[in-house]
Amino acid sequence: MENSSSPNNNPAKIIVLRWGHRVQRDMRLTTHVALTARALGASGFILADVADNHIEETVTKITTVWGGSFNFEMAVPWKSAVRKWKNNSGIIVHLTAYGENIQTSDVMNRIKAQDKDVMLLMGSQKVPGEFYSEEVSDFNVAVGNQPHSECSALAIFLDRYFGGQELDKPFEKAKISIIPKERGKEIKTNIEFRKPV
Ligand SMILES: C[S@@+](CC[C@H](N)C(=O)[O-])C[C@H]1O[C@@H](n2cnc3c(N)ncnc32)[C@H](O)[C@@H]1O
Repeated sequence: MENSSSPNNNPAKIIVLRWGHRVQRDMRLTTHVALTARALGASGFILADVADNHIEETVTKITTVWGGSFNFEMAVPWKSAVRKWKNNSGIIVHLTAYGENIQTSDVMNRIKAQDKDVMLLMGSQKVPGEFYSEEVSDFNVAVGNQPHSECSALAIFLDRYFGGQELDKPFEKAKISIIPKERGKEIKTNIEFRKPV
């Protein structure tokens, strides 16, 4: 793992570990969690303990076409992913409605002050109790103390962590990109991507 401690003020990198995915039933939501992670500045996604080839295909295809580097792994046991991350000096942040409130506490400042790469743990169904423990999670963070969705919790956490900068992030080697417009749709296509006529 790269250590992006910040002589050049680069924020540390974030990866997302999704636990509890139920194949077929959760396909759409887990895909959305992975695409949210990619679009909002995370560097990678781990689908823990289970494989789902449809999700891998979709995420890989989006990254190939829309650019950037985004690492996708699946079927990695969550315990070994966490152990490896900690051994490489990364910290673990568990997103849970029961955690310290991101708005009313200073938890985000304390996370940033660590200046370490972050693995975000998120559930789908009820997560193992160990997720809340000191041995696993350095921080338990709530995006408000009401239960809602992993997608919204992830999006708000990333936006606050990166302070909005992620919304302007370049995606290298994109084959297509959107030209923002007041109305209508405009797309720029990389010349090499166009099929020969
Ligand atoms: C639908 S919730 C799961 C709720 C589940 N019934 C439970 O008891 O854990 C799925 C995931 O979304 C995330 N989540 C939901 N609400 C959240 C909140 N207010 N703050 C942070 N994360 C939240 C958590 O990662 C949670 O594991």
